[in-house]
Amino acid sequence: MSEDSADQKRWYVRNAGTSSEPTFIHPTADVSPLAKIGAGTQVWNWSQIRERAVIGRDTIIGQMTYIGVEVVIGDRCRVMPKTAIDTGTVIGSDVFIGPHCLFPNDTTPRAWSTRDMQGVRWYVEDGVSFAADVIVLPDVSVGHHAFVAVRAIVNKDVPPHALMIGTPARRHGWVSTAGHPMHMVRETDAGDLYVCPRTGEEVLILQEWKEGRWRPAALKATARS
Ligand SMILES: CC(C)(COP(=O)(O)OP(=O)(O)OC[C@H]1O[C@@H](n2cnc3c(N)ncnc32)[C@H](O)[C@@H]1OP(=O)(O)O)[C@@H](O)C(=O)NCCC(=O)NCCS
Repeated sequence: MSEDSADQKRWYVRNAGTSSEPTFIHPTADVSPLAKIGAGTQVWNWSQIRERAVIGRDTIIGQMTYIGVEVVIGDRCRVMPKTAIDTGTVIGSDVFIGPHCLFPNDTTPRAWSTRDMQGVRWYVEDGVSFAADVIVLPDVSVGHHAFVAVRAIVNKDVPPHALMIGTPARRHGWVSTAGHPMHMVRETDAGDLYVCPRTGEEVLILQEWKEGRWRPAALKATARS
């Protein structure tokens, strides 16, 4: 096969579905034949998608990004350039991951040993945003629609709708689904009711979120909860 036709083969439609757009894989991207890439998803220059990774539909994987073995990423996500997501991470849909973000998976790395990742999973729920240069340490989950600010290092589970800033990341209020800081309207038995000043959305901030007892829905039914 000539070099030209080998290149053309890399631009083909994989796993064609019902999305109006075909899957796009840049010729310089290295996508394992064992990875599954959804319809409408784009994988850009020099990125690597490892074996058995699963990426949903209409997601964009930016340049020079590394997606580890068996990583799961949902639909309509934006993964900006130079990000590395290691084995063990399961990411929902509509998640924004800014440039240079890191999701390492080895708590005590040594050059001569690696952690056994068999069965290990932690979760980023739907609608979360990570700004540029965020590091999410191993075994940490992030609740839906949380917002993690530039350069934060996340070392503990983050409850839904939390705004996290700093190193280590601490909660500085709550944000709406649209990502705007909200203010409290009133306390209720179940938690505090917050409203978004821009969209009018009301969000009930549960007591368990405030007290750090939140666990991702996907883990609640398992022994890790
Ligand atoms: C979360 C974010 C929106 C907050 O920005 P902001 O509205 O300017 O923040 P505020 O004015 O509410 O700041 C509150 C306090 O936190 C500080 N602060 C804000 N963002 C901070 C950050 N990322 N790291 C450390 N401190 C921060 C502010 O200096 C301020 O401190 P002060 O009360 O002592 O004055 C911003 O930090 C951010 O991450 N934006 C996303 C940018 C990005 O990466 N986009 C994607 C690129 S493709």
